[in-house]
Amino acid sequence: MSQPTASPVAKAPSSPSTQSPVKGRLKKQQAQGFSLSSFLIALSAVVCLAGVTILPSITKVSSPGLPSIFGTISTIFDGYKSDLVGTQSGETQKTGSSPSSAVVTLPAYNPSYEIPTAVFVGGTSGIGLAMAESFAQQTNGSSRIIIVGRNRIAAEGLFARIPSPSTDAPKHEFIECDATLMKNVHVASAHILKTVPKINFLVLTPGVMTMNPRDETEEGIDRKLALHYYARWAFIHGLLPALRKAGEAGEDAKVLSVLGAGRGSDIELDNLGLKADFKVIKAAMQTATYTDLMMEEFSQRNPGISFLHSSPGLVRTNLIRSSDYWMLQMTYPALELMFWPFAISSGQCAEYMWGAIHRSTSGRAWRIGSKGEDIGMLNYRGNEEERKLVWEHTVAEVKPSTIL
Ligand SMILES: NC(=O)c1ccc[n+]([C@@H]2O[C@H](COP(=O)([O-])OP(=O)(O)OC[C@H]3O[C@@H](n4cnc5c(N)ncnc54)[C@H](OP(=O)(O)O)[C@@H]3O)[C@@H](O)[C@H]2O)c1
Repeated sequence: MSQPTASPVAKAPSSPSTQSPVKGRLKKQQAQGFSLSSFLIALSAVVCLAGVTILPSITKVSSPGLPSIFGTISTIFDGYKSDLVGTQSGETQKTGSSPSSAVVTLPAYNPSYEIPTAVFVGGTSGIGLAMAESFAQQTNGSSRIIIVGRNRIAAEGLFARIPSPSTDAPKHEFIECDATLMKNVHVASAHILKTVPKINFLVLTPGVMTMNPRDETEEGIDRKLALHYYARWAFIHGLLPALRKAGEAGEDAKVLSVLGAGRGSDIELDNLGLKADFKVIKAAMQTATYTDLMMEEFSQRNPGISFLHSSPGLVRTNLIRSSDYWMLQMTYPALELMFWPFAISSGQCAEYMWGAIHRSTSGRAWRIGSKGEDIGMLNYRGNEEERKLVWEHTVAEVKPSTIL
């Protein structure tokens, strides 16, 4: 299994130790800047609160209510806070700098085998797009990138700006797929298997920020659960033959699902798929635990492949902006402004995630924090019996033609 030439390094900006007149002025300006940004943040909070409390009563439009919206956003935010103060494994380092100012530089990635192939499901925006772009840069164009999603223009825009593969190398490809339907995932996976002999990296980031109540597809699966969990299971399962071939050839064979490692809740065995009782916060937390269990089961069945489940923390992406929920659409500028100081860019997140992927080895399931650190069994929920039951439930929902 090839390894990167060096591991990523987080650099902390230096802090001034003496006070000159110029520095004094600067400090004053910074303090003024700080009070302006505090004012803007406070203003945003007021706008958001007004939006989510007053508007529903004026317009009489049904609302999931304040607790749901802030509960879901704070599920992400709480996780991020815990990343800042360190993890159980003790691998997170406090730099004293704001997380958005840390710099990570990935070294060039030159594996010993020819042209690595990476598949990005959800690679048309946000973390997935940034991970695809980062991979193209690490390999300086000596890689094949397959983007799966709905937005062809975004994928083609990416292909136009990344280094091109050499003339004889296979070209990058976009595969259109609405991943809320498992039948579409099966078709897309079969197409990929016909196109590429091996897959070295599979990165799964399709997702939505929604406040809707249960919203079933024609296949009887809730749309959010479909994107965050079932489609990811179906892509991993469908692409196993190509991942196994890569592993058997001694090449990288690695799978990452970006969701909510360490943010899960106890499995509700009498409510699998949230068919009996659906709540948005529950959907976020149950799928995080399902993902832990799925990665463990895939890992046991496929010891030659690395499986990672990560929690990216708070990342500046299109997630809130592209929400189908009208209240989030109206308040997203204020929300984005409010969370800006606590969030990192998608590019920085991508580098942390690639650091974790390159460090991972096969034979176990990894749980990864927002800086790419191994969080071990932090906030782990689940046991063997639950893993077996969730696996059987998923097979029944996804309906693969064979079990690989
Ligand atoms: N950003 C954060 O702070 C944060 C925090 C914790 C967890 N996460 C999780 O990280 C993952 C990535 O989020 P992000 O922030 O990168 O969001 P994003 O920028 O909105 O990207 C989401 C991706 O999902 C794709 N997608 C949405 N609906 C789809 C569908 N029906 N079929 C196929 N693809 C679909 C989008 O493609 P289209 O271009 O087709 O819409 C897009 O590529 C999500 O699961 C999110 O829950 C994010």
